[in-house]
Amino acid sequence: MKCKKLVDTGRRQFLRGSMMATAGAVATTVMTPEQAKARALARVDMPVNRLANLADLTVNEPMDISYPDDESPGVLLKLGEPVEGGVGPDGDIVAFSVLCPHKGWMLSYSAEDKSLNCPGHHSRFDCEAGGQQIWGHATNNLAQFLLSVDDKGDIYANGVDELIYGRLSNVL
Ligand code: FES
Repeated sequence: MKCKKLVDTGRRQFLRGSMMATAGAVATTVMTPEQAKARALARVDMPVNRLANLADLTVNEPMDISYPDDESPGVLLKLGEPVEGGVGPDGDIVAFSVLCPHKGWMLSYSAEDKSLNCPGHHSRFDCEAGGQQIWGHATNNLAQFLLSVDDKGDIYANGVDELIYGRLSNVL
């Protein structure tokens, strides 16, 4: 009898502790107004910038661009085959930042294997695989600009999928 009472008391305390822990977990998921404001600020509206027209591009010849502003150089490419993130009638047009994610050296394009290459510490990025790093010191993939094409064939950048080197956020 005494033992059963102790067991019941222990169970009640365990359940009460569990409920308090659950309540605590719920409380941590509710944001304060300050947290909600900070999160809203982290959401960035990127500009929609015209980069070129379909008629301006030649397969495997990079075109220099910048996005979202003049301080952020990039490259626009028509790769000739449908690729990850590719737009246009052939799904083969992509654009990337050319600032190396490692330390910001300027990348150069290799038409031979459709990669962007860093002269600094030799990181390499695959333009056919969304800027995936294939070699080197960088610790993340290359920032790819998100593109769209209108019915006149104008190509627009309207976002970016990674942090552009040197920026704390992708804010202008
Ligand atoms: Fe490009 Fe170091 S700056 S690998």
